[in-house]
Amino acid sequence: MDDYITLTYHGREFRLPLVAGSQGETAVDISRLRQETGLITLDPGFANTGSCRSAITFVDGERGILRYRGIPVEQLAERSTFKETAFLLINGALPTQKELTRFSVLLNDHSLVHEDMKIFYQSFPRSSHPMGILSAMVNALRSFYPELQNLEEEINITVTRLLSKVRTMAAMSYKISRGHTVVYPRSDLTYCANFLNMMFDSPVKPYELDPDVVKALNVFLILHADHEQNCSTAAVRVVGSARVNLYAAISAGIAALWGPLHGGANQAVIEMLTEIYRQGDLGAWVARAKDKNHPYRLMGFGHRVYKTYDPRARIMKQMAHVLLEKLKVSDPLLDVARELEAIALKDDYFVEHHLYPNVDFYSGIVLRAIGIPTNMFTVLFAIGRLPGWIAQWKESMDDPAWKLCRPRQVYSGPGERDYVPIEER
Ligand code: ACO
Repeated sequence: MDDYITLTYHGREFRLPLVAGSQGETAVDISRLRQETGLITLDPGFANTGSCRSAITFVDGERGILRYRGIPVEQLAERSTFKETAFLLINGALPTQKELTRFSVLLNDHSLVHEDMKIFYQSFPRSSHPMGILSAMVNALRSFYPELQNLEEEINITVTRLLSKVRTMAAMSYKISRGHTVVYPRSDLTYCANFLNMMFDSPVKPYELDPDVVKALNVFLILHADHEQNCSTAAVRVVGSARVNLYAAISAGIAALWGPLHGGANQAVIEMLTEIYRQGDLGAWVARAKDKNHPYRLMGFGHRVYKTYDPRARIMKQMAHVLLEKLKVSDPLLDVARELEAIALKDDYFVEHHLYPNVDFYSGIVLRAIGIPTNMFTVLFAIGRLPGWIAQWKESMDDPAWKLCRPRQVYSGPGERDYVPIEER
């Protein structure tokens, strides 16, 4: 392979080095472009821009491949737990038994949330969206728990604190929003079982843990655990590049994830399926999504990177089917989703635009079966994505090439003009 490409500009030739990734993808290194040519690049939405080198997650959007640290997500979903996958993403390798036990102990030790934080929760209006609350509360963690990030061991404490407390805080926000007593974490329960217990246990109706539900939650979280440089991860890296504290960087990621074009799509999908179920006429919904004059899009369809079936959606669809059967639950929205998918996948517009179901299309059905309320769906996504955000933040902090993120622009406003006093305007 050539190790550079040539750019000709104003009759001069410039060599731009090529950079090869470990899986054959190639990039043009433009880091000296402006210095040497005076030019910058323009790439709205960064669809052609690699922002970093990363050894965490590999996605091949054309072939529908997703691997964390080299391991296919299908294998992790089948054989791993969320806790183990989180360790893998953050530390680069699957844990030994000793490492896993130590990680569990640390997660357990840090699972309680400062009692004073409850006062914050109670001050939010009842109608607040849990994602707004979670983003604010994670940012507030910095005031309660000083960030330790100088020594490796200190970073591990901050990281474990976040992983453990976000789960407690998410369940706490749900309980408080319902006006119910907060349920504390238990040392005898695993990561996912603990979360379910904190969400659903009550003094009047003890929660019975179902291993199928615990497994489903593990798989859901594993499938969301990382996805290379997506919108929220990019937000974490960009905000983190200012060397702000980790809590603030993660809080920015949560805010980005909230959007309906990103993680907020899981809530939007269920709202869409519910409307379709109520109103019927699937064809009209598909037609509206295809209409150039209408801003409507089919939620849970399409992806910036996947131009084939999202491998996570495939697992999620299968899991929705199996879980509903095991729990003996019948959810009409699963039928609506399957029917909608069948229509869209045969439709020329969706075929030509390479639009397939993404991870959010079937995930809401799984969460509904578990009993998670719709407005908590994106919070569950945030709990899942947390190890990915942390791993990416850590990698960027350790990367000698990682600089303050500060893109340039092509200015298109007016030229210089004089200030006009208000009485003359
Ligand atoms: N329904 C109908 N048309 C769509 C859809 C959709 N869901 N998604 C993309 N298109 C069309 C666009 O209208 C556009 O058509 P055109 O080229 O004829 O103008 C073309 O496909 C390309 O769309 P872009 O917006 O340029 O693609 P982009 O990569 O920016 O969008 C995105 C990706 C934002 C995910 C988009 O597919 C979308 O809005 N999907 C619905 C929201 C959603 O499900 N988001 C979750 C994504 S997964 C995640 O973040 C976890």
